[in-house]
Amino acid sequence: MCGIVAYIGKKQAYPIILKGLKRLEYRGYDSAGIALLDAENSINLYKRQGKVSNLEEFAADKDLFGHLGIGHTRWATHGAPNDVNAHPHMSMDGSIALIHNGIIENYDSLKKELIKQGYIFQSETDTEVLVHLTDHISKKENVWFGEALRLALSHVVGAYAIVAMSKDYPKRIVAARKSSPLVIGVGTEGDFFLASDATPIVEYTKKVVYLDDEEIAIIDLDEGLKLYNIADQEKTPFFQELEMELEALEKGGYEHFMIKEIHEQPRSIHDCFRGRLNAEEGWVSLGGVRDYEQKMIQANRLIIVACGTSWHAGLVGEYLIEDLARINVEVEYASEFRYRNPIINENDVVIAISQSGETADTMAALELAKSKGATILGICNVVGSSISRITDAGSYTHAGPEIGVASTKAFTAQVTVLTLMALSLAKKKGTISETKFRTLLAELEAIPEKVKTVLETSDHIEKIAAEYKDASNALYLGRGSSFPVALEGALKLKEISYIHAEGYPAAEMKHGPIALIDEEMPVFVIATQGTSYEKVVSNIQEVKARKGKIIAVVTEGDVSVKEMADHVIEIPECDEQLVPLLATIPFQLLSYHIAVMRGCNVDQPRNLAKSVTVE
Ligand code: M6R
Repeated sequence: MCGIVAYIGKKQAYPIILKGLKRLEYRGYDSAGIALLDAENSINLYKRQGKVSNLEEFAADKDLFGHLGIGHTRWATHGAPNDVNAHPHMSMDGSIALIHNGIIENYDSLKKELIKQGYIFQSETDTEVLVHLTDHISKKENVWFGEALRLALSHVVGAYAIVAMSKDYPKRIVAARKSSPLVIGVGTEGDFFLASDATPIVEYTKKVVYLDDEEIAIIDLDEGLKLYNIADQEKTPFFQELEMELEALEKGGYEHFMIKEIHEQPRSIHDCFRGRLNAEEGWVSLGGVRDYEQKMIQANRLIIVACGTSWHAGLVGEYLIEDLARINVEVEYASEFRYRNPIINENDVVIAISQSGETADTMAALELAKSKGATILGICNVVGSSISRITDAGSYTHAGPEIGVASTKAFTAQVTVLTLMALSLAKKKGTISETKFRTLLAELEAIPEKVKTVLETSDHIEKIAAEYKDASNALYLGRGSSFPVALEGALKLKEISYIHAEGYPAAEMKHGPIALIDEEMPVFVIATQGTSYEKVVSNIQEVKARKGKIIAVVTEGDVSVKEMADHVIEIPECDEQLVPLLATIPFQLLSYHIAVMRGCNVDQPRNLAKSVTVE
């Protein structure tokens, strides 16, 4: 939650920060604000409730001069989304401004203490505590604001990425992180860019440093970048080269990021398996986790921890790994796992799946597993993200930046990695025949072309969307590895079109949800060829008998379901194990078209943020 951008150097800070905030808006869009150090070394503060564009409009006629500035886009935790609670927050004398992403858990006791010392709070945020505490320590200990911030952080319990500036230090900016991400870009003109992720930085420089937990960065225009730990010991920065390309961050002619990302899937799936499999030569190799495969094979069980869409991908992974490699897999909601005192030891392997690599619950689940001695692995999309850094090893999904809040290409890339993992483990363990192995490799290689074919049905799906756009409820049904696809289809519809939807294993319907079926209820069913086809056909009949509307995803050339369903969407024939990679696409398109028709904000749905870095 919350996006942070800051700049110090020779350029004008405002346009850089504003553009950066727009890139980070996926992290929260409840309010936005900027603080700029003007020519007289005063801090000008502009804050507005709502989107970054509101701030832009508000600031248009203001003094926007400044070579040093900090900006923030907020996803509200403490305090309503209004102008006052927007960041940056200022010390009472206007000398220090600070932005924060995370949660200060002990803010209440700190606030009470500061009030006793005479501090007056303007906002309801936990962040304001940080700025007053820094100011208080600076005055009491007679130290500069960076040192005061370091000392303040030793009193703080919680998670933070912080950037602070002071009118008394026009050449300095100070940043710190614990459990919330922060990247520093080193510019070519002796300037520096700071942000929650690399997207606001990449067009200026590719040389970056990712802050580690409990690191403090002091950036001085004369002395450069210095890193310290919380105990004030100097550390050596580790500079990295960004691999991200600027085009990946733009809409490229599409109306929304979501539809662009849906259409990117032939390429993102291909990028995901490129160099990792060769059907002709008959091999598969996930370099990042190769050294841990034996451990996975011998493990008590593999435990997949994830949230939301990534959890759905994990469920597909469970079906694949258990079926192909015959290894016991459990899939856990990270938020439940971390608090339910799970039985876990050094014989377990815990795999976190996360697009952002920053999800707080997933991070905490991993940390718990690590503390119990388990091996921890990651499947992440964002290179250099926190999860990818704390895990023993992992595999990137290589889907490229996903900006739309609704996950699309990240899901299919996660499923692709899990398929590769299942195949690799099965081969190593000897639980798959050579013929089946080679068939699946060849089928996987063919998936990008088949995804292209599914994408061509977009106009047909748009017509179906027009018919159901006013529905109040929807059911999604699937069996086997299509069950997680049903869950994911329902999540997509809920989150971007605000239509209530439920995903169910098709056979479970008769244990309750069938009571919901009437002529108003659209039921989306995955009824592709495979082991459960006949069973799903029976489930469809049960719905039809109660006058429900059936929209079925079927294999090309299907006859039986076509006769029963109100609408069918065909996907190319493929091995049953790989159906999730194709069957999920029509549901993504359907949700997208419905959301557009309902006038919803597709890329930034209400109440949501792309990366959930708080509990
Ligand atoms: O970044 P992560 O994959 O860890 O995020 C987990 C969920 O917050 C995420 O998948 C969420 O459910 C999606 N935005 C839904 O489309």
